[in-house]
Amino acid sequence: MELKEQINRDKLPCHVAVIMDGNGRWARKQGFARVKGHEKGVGAVKATVEAAAELGLNYLTLYAFSTENWKRPKYEIESLMKLLVHAIHNEMASLMENNIRLTTIGDLNALPSKSQKELQRAMETTSSNTGLTLILALSYSAHWEIVEACKELAEEVRIGKLATEEIDSTLFATKLSTVGIPDPELLIRTSGEYRISNFLLWQIAYSELYFTPTLWPDFTKEDFFMAILDFQNRERRFGLTSEQITLVEATKKKRTK
Ligand code: IPE
Ligand code: IPE
Ligand code: MG
Repeated sequence: MELKEQINRDKLPCHVAVIMDGNGRWARKQGFARVKGHEKGVGAVKATVEAAAELGLNYLTLYAFSTENWKRPKYEIESLMKLLVHAIHNEMASLMENNIRLTTIGDLNALPSKSQKELQRAMETTSSNTGLTLILALSYSAHWEIVEACKELAEEVRIGKLATEEIDSTLFATKLSTVGIPDPELLIRTSGEYRISNFLLWQIAYSELYFTPTLWPDFTKEDFFMAILDFQNRERRFGLTSEQITLVEATKKKRTK
């Protein structure tokens, strides 16, 4: 049976986040410049978005450029920004066809104006689409996001709009750039690195983590389906015992019958 057919459609993660890593190593391995790896990586983005849409996932977040990535060589940054503009431009028809809504998290103001414009246009054009929400993390880092949230809360306290005692995790989450988006249930990282690299630190508190040695340009729909299947075979306990979880599941089943 094909991998896709093995996936339980009733147990899909609502939100999957991906750290797309390994473009540079992929290129080096083939004897190319790093930028070639980024170019090839666009194909993997396309495949992953299609796979997520095919399954009917609600949210897919892709880590495309981190705050720390600004420290890379100027040529590589420029190439990545150009690639972003081209990719979005080329994919507009496909986003519309597949009912995909594009949105972003991160410090968009830090991007070149051309990239900002292309993104704004794409976000506006796709804003009424009701299928998959594709979230591109651009010039994003979790530390940046959390600090911004703190500043906003501090300001509200300063002007008397908010009392310190009113701050709790629910309120805090509303100040993050992911407001309104459920936390990722599954986080995938490619390229065999076992780290988070400043991605969605608040939101992944209870995410299932999936690491694969595959370099991002080699990542296929099948790899994505494999990660989903792996996720479906795990027991998420949220601090409870296995027995409690079984009981909760049984009660849920009874109610839906
Ligand atoms: C991921 O691939 C893409 C970005 C971070 C923009 P890398 O460029 O980090 O590739 P490696 O990790 O050096 O192989
Ligand atoms: C994480 O990859 C950022 C993105 C995928 C955009 P990096 O390649 O920047 O992370 P490190 O440097 O290996 O931690
Ligand atoms: Mg990397």
